[in-house]
Amino acid sequence: MLEQKLKDHGQQVDIIEIQHLKRPGFFRAGRAAMKQEELPIKNTDVALRDYDVVLVGSPTWAGKPSPYIRSFFTKTNAFEGKTAGVFITGGGPGEDNVKNSELLKDYLESIGLKPVNYTLNLQMKKEEIISGEQYIDKFVDTIMKRGST
Ligand SMILES: Cc1cc2nc3c(=O)[nH]c(=O)nc-3n(C[C@H](O)[C@H](O)[C@H](O)COP(=O)(O)O)c2cc1C
Repeated sequence: MLEQKLKDHGQQVDIIEIQHLKRPGFFRAGRAAMKQEELPIKNTDVALRDYDVVLVGSPTWAGKPSPYIRSFFTKTNAFEGKTAGVFITGGGPGEDNVKNSELLKDYLESIGLKPVNYTLNLQMKKEEIISGEQYIDKFVDTIMKRGST
């Protein structure tokens, strides 16, 4: 949905999927998220130099961003100083997601990206959005204006 809306605004969009080496079980995933410890991924030496904006999407795991976000950015280069956007999915109602999106925003800032203030928080049920869909346009508009709102 995000991809289509950005394309409707005339943007070129590439989706880079973070690929785990081995699927962790529920508890391993939750524990790694809580401790923000990296888990091995297949992506290597990803260069983001050709992109103007980097949108980072993560589920909420145990109230935190997926640990794969950190694993990904340690294998990524040429992203410093770029505008970024955060979008979060969660199974529970908004609160966890809002806190989590702030955590992810702080992390991206700490590694040198420039996240826009507005974050998109979606409550999900099996690939279906339960709530938050109405905010996708606002998120896209904010990204298009590069954080000026
Ligand atoms: C290990 C684990 C921990 C989770 N912890 C939370 C949580 O703390 N709060 C929440 O709202 N959802 C939690 N969820 C639900 C996920 O956020 C939800 O499944 C995800 O956002 C949907 O995207 P997916 O299709 O990639 O799973 C958790 C899911 C997993 C697997």
